[in-house]
Amino acid sequence: MKFAFYNPTRLLFGAGTVARLGEEVRKHGRKALIVSGGGSVKGNGTLARAVTSLQAAGVEVAECAGIEPNPRITSVARGAEIARREGCEVVVALGGGSTMDAAKVIAAATLYDGDPWDMIAHGQENWVAPTRALPIVTVPTLAATGSEMNNGAVISNDDSKVKSFVLADCLFPKIAIVDPELTLTVPTEQTAFGVCDLITHVTEGYFNGIDGTPIQDRFAEGVIATAMEWGPKAVANGSDLEARTQIQWASVVALNGWVQAGTDFSFPVHMIEHALSAHHDITHGAGLAVLNPAWMRFAAKARPERFAQFAERLFALSAPDRESLAMAGIDKFAEFLRSIGCPTRLTELGLGEELFARYAEDAVLVVGDAAGNLPGRPPMSKADIVAMLRTAR
Ligand code: NZQ
Ligand code: ZN
Repeated sequence: MKFAFYNPTRLLFGAGTVARLGEEVRKHGRKALIVSGGGSVKGNGTLARAVTSLQAAGVEVAECAGIEPNPRITSVARGAEIARREGCEVVVALGGGSTMDAAKVIAAATLYDGDPWDMIAHGQENWVAPTRALPIVTVPTLAATGSEMNNGAVISNDDSKVKSFVLADCLFPKIAIVDPELTLTVPTEQTAFGVCDLITHVTEGYFNGIDGTPIQDRFAEGVIATAMEWGPKAVANGSDLEARTQIQWASVVALNGWVQAGTDFSFPVHMIEHALSAHHDITHGAGLAVLNPAWMRFAAKARPERFAQFAERLFALSAPDRESLAMAGIDKFAEFLRSIGCPTRLTELGLGEELFARYAEDAVLVVGDAAGNLPGRPPMSKADIVAMLRTAR
C-alpha cells in the first residue's frame, strides 16, 4: 500500500446539532445561500430551524430552492446567479445528495465566469477542474451519498443525457453538520435506497481494490454489517432515531475517503448506474440495487476468492468450493436488498434493452482506459457491460 489521505472537512455529528448551524456558518461569511430540494425541508420544519439558527448568529439568508433529484446543470447555473446577485459569501446545502452536490458546484460556479458544465468531467477536451469555491457547509437530510464529507459532486445534463462527476479539493465542505433527527421524515423507499447506496460505496473499493488491504477490508465489512443490521430497522420504523443515527454515520464513513484509502479503487457499478440515471432519471440507490448484484456475479467469475471472503464474513456461509461460496454470498446480498424493498431487476425500474449499448458507451466516457474498457477488477469491455445488463433484465 502506498497512498496520500486528505479530508479537511470538520464534522459535527449527532441529534440536535443543526442548532449550531448559525455559529458555524458565521465563521465563513455574513450572508448565506441556502440550497434546498423540492420542498421536504419546508414541510418538515428543517428549513425553519436552519434559518432561525442562522439569523440568531447574525447571518443573512438568500434561498435557492427546487434542486431536483439527479440535479441538473441548469439548476447549478440558477443557484450561482442568485449567489452573485445576492452577494452571498457562503453556501449552505440543506437536503439529500442531490442538493449537496448542486450546492457544491454552485459554490464553485459563483466564482467561475464560464459555463458551469465546463467543470463537470464529461469527456471534453477543455475540462476545467474548479480551484476556487465559496465556503460550503453541508447539512444532510438523508443518509446515502456521503457527499456531506467528500469533495465530489454528480451533475446531470438534460440536453446531452450525460450524468457525470467533478472531484476537486475546493469542494470539500468546510463543515458538515450531520444531525440524524433531520432524517426521521425520509420516506421508506428512499431510506432503503440510501442504505443500498452507502453499502455500494464500500463494496466498490472492497471488490475492485488492490490485494493486501486487510484493515480496509475490515472497515468495509464493518460498514456493510452495520448497514445490514440497522438499515432494516430504519426501513421498518422511520421514527427510530437510533437506527437513523447508525445509518447516517455509516453513510458518512462509507464515502469520506477513509475506507477506500490505499485501495486504489475504481467505481464501475457507479459509472454504469450514472448512465442509467442520465437517460431515465431513476433514483441512484435503486439503480445500484439492480446493478451491484449483477456486476458482482460478473466479477466473481474472475476473482472468486474476494467474493468468498464476503460470503464468509458477512453471511457466515460455507460451501465445498470457493466459486459456489462466492455465488451464494451474492445471492444472500441480493436477498437482503429485496428484503428492504429495493428492486433487483431492470424491469422493476421500467427499463428494457433498447439503450444497453448506449449505457455501455456512456459508462466508459470519462473513466475508460486506453483500450476503451471500464476500469475495475476485472476491467469491463462494452460487450461485457451489455452482457451483464442482460443478466439483470
Ligand atoms: O427534494 P426534496 O423535497 O428534499 O426530497 C428529497 C428527494 O425527493 C427526499 N428527501 C431528502 N431528505 C428528506 C427527503 N424527504 C423527506 N424527508 C427528508 N429528510 O429524498 C428524495 C431524494 O433526494 P436526493 O438528494 O436525490 O437523494 P440522495 O441523497 O440519494 O442523492 C442522490 C444523488 O447523489 C449522487 C447521485 O448520483 C444522485 O444524483 N451521488 C453523489 C455522490 C457524492 N457527491 O459523493 C456519491 C453518490 O454515489 C451519488 O452518485
Ligand atoms: Zn452512490
